[in-house]
Amino acid sequence: MCGIIGIVGNQPVAMRLVDALKRLEYRGYDSAGIATLVDNQIARSRAEGKLVNLENRLAAEPLSGAIGIGHTRWATHGAPTERNAHPHATEQVAIVHNGIIENFAELRTELEAEGVKFQSDTDTETVAQLVARNIRSGDAPVEAVRKVLGRLRGAFALAFLFTGENEMLVAARRGSPLAIGYGEGEMFLGSDAIALAPFTDKISYLEDGDWAVLTRDSVTVYDEGNHPVTRVVQQSSGAAYVVNKGNYRHFMEKEVYEQPEVISRTLAHYLDFSSSSIRTDVNNIDWSKINRMAMSACGTAYYAATIGKYWMERYARLPVEIDIASEFRYREMPLSTDTLALFVSQSGETADTLASLRYCRSQGLPIAAVVNVRESTIARESDIVLPTLAGPEIGVASTKAFTCQLSVLASLALSAAKARGTITPAEEKELVDQLGNLSGVLHEALKLAPKVEAICRDLMNVKDVLYLGRGTSYPLALEGALKLKEISYIHAEGYAAGELKHGPIALIDETMPVIVIAPFDRLYEKTVSNMQEVAARGGRIILITDKEGAKHANVDAHSVLIMPDVPEFISPLVYALPIQMLAYYTAVFMGTDVDQPRNLAKSVTVE
Ligand code: F6R
Repeated sequence: MCGIIGIVGNQPVAMRLVDALKRLEYRGYDSAGIATLVDNQIARSRAEGKLVNLENRLAAEPLSGAIGIGHTRWATHGAPTERNAHPHATEQVAIVHNGIIENFAELRTELEAEGVKFQSDTDTETVAQLVARNIRSGDAPVEAVRKVLGRLRGAFALAFLFTGENEMLVAARRGSPLAIGYGEGEMFLGSDAIALAPFTDKISYLEDGDWAVLTRDSVTVYDEGNHPVTRVVQQSSGAAYVVNKGNYRHFMEKEVYEQPEVISRTLAHYLDFSSSSIRTDVNNIDWSKINRMAMSACGTAYYAATIGKYWMERYARLPVEIDIASEFRYREMPLSTDTLALFVSQSGETADTLASLRYCRSQGLPIAAVVNVRESTIARESDIVLPTLAGPEIGVASTKAFTCQLSVLASLALSAAKARGTITPAEEKELVDQLGNLSGVLHEALKLAPKVEAICRDLMNVKDVLYLGRGTSYPLALEGALKLKEISYIHAEGYAAGELKHGPIALIDETMPVIVIAPFDRLYEKTVSNMQEVAARGGRIILITDKEGAKHANVDAHSVLIMPDVPEFISPLVYALPIQMLAYYTAVFMGTDVDQPRNLAKSVTVE
């Protein structure tokens, strides 16, 4: 969840570390800090809150030094204060850490019994103190780290900077991702390739259990058994990404507006629009051997997967089990090898999703993953990678990654349906054409922004919101509620419209907005009945529908958002846009931190 960076350089590193941290801030923004060596001694600068605070501090009190490490934090152990900000340091060593040291309490007790005084409440400082103790007892820095790694439980990526070692950093990874960047007369380490993009495009990825010694001219990698190993150096695409907001106010806004383009790009990877057919060569799934699927994911990716389940079952007639990854990993579900395990993740690093993948691997299942970050751990550990071509998503609230996940899942359902003979060639053509027409419809939907804004001027004043939908609009209702609460901090719940009368209807009164997602499809009438139950109890209805839907609503809605007409299959991709915009403009009016909402981080690499 935190971002880490390290440079063994040949020029001042402080501002280069900060530059890299800017590209990692999506991983956490509770505090930030750097450490360099000044006259062979560790010097630190740390600040609570956003990276800009650290930048300001460094502008007032610069740090020199050509070697250093940096960190941007998402707090796990210890409040987000300066005292708990990384790097944590002793006289001998400074470290930055991403992940959790699970046995830190017992290690800390051991050290405190020896008289070690801790300066923070973090699990991380235990590692620094253990290494320092080994150095004090006469171990060389590398040996000191090697011994400590053997004592740590949990998931981590670590970087170490040592007093008196002007040309060496040590890095280690177990669970959390870590990449090494190769420069000319300098070396880098970082949580991902995007962080290293300004410095180099030659990247290698440490594998689980690896640790490495970096000097200005060399990188030596060791595996978990401490044997030297070679990790392939690849050309990274990270450098190609321009991470800026352009003319938009927020990354989220930019990412919402990018959707027509990135969805088309993603679909074109899986579908051949010139012949209105499915590209059969883009996944190597042997559908004849698959009788069911087990999907799991977290958060927004889980809602995308849930919509994928509806498609897979309806069009390919393939039964799908779906779980939230944090539940799946401990559910010990009996699995047979005719089950395709499918994981959905933007970052490809989510700890619970990765653990679920590893459980399925241990059960001998074929593994497929829908991922946005091609170099991620989930991608690397999957048999079949189904990329979303969304480009980097910086806003913490997922938008374009969600709709690109839907694009891949829709294509995959059609691919399975074709292979299993559950759609005819005419249906294949029809459904591919529907996806092919998306771009224009999405542009139309984005034009609704002023109408959405008008609704949000009202929404910003409420405390609770209910989202309702049926069929694929039900997971979309869940996603709408998640989006609203995570960036506007308004309490919101999503419900299957039919569930309303089983409890939540008790909440309805004239202060409660109920957002109903109801395209005019085969489920429309049912949803309308539920909407009328809300209206009868004075609820304030915000109806998202199309022209026909608006005509047949028969209810006095507070607001109606009229969407372009779309076939049922592709409606989740189109109706995703207004729910994203509803959350976005509400949050903007409320003045919250849209791209970096409180308490959250983009990449969740802890349980
Ligand atoms: C919400 C959001 C999160 C993520 C979830 C999974 O807007 O972004 O709910 O969807 O943390 O992350 P990934 O997709 O990286 O596995």
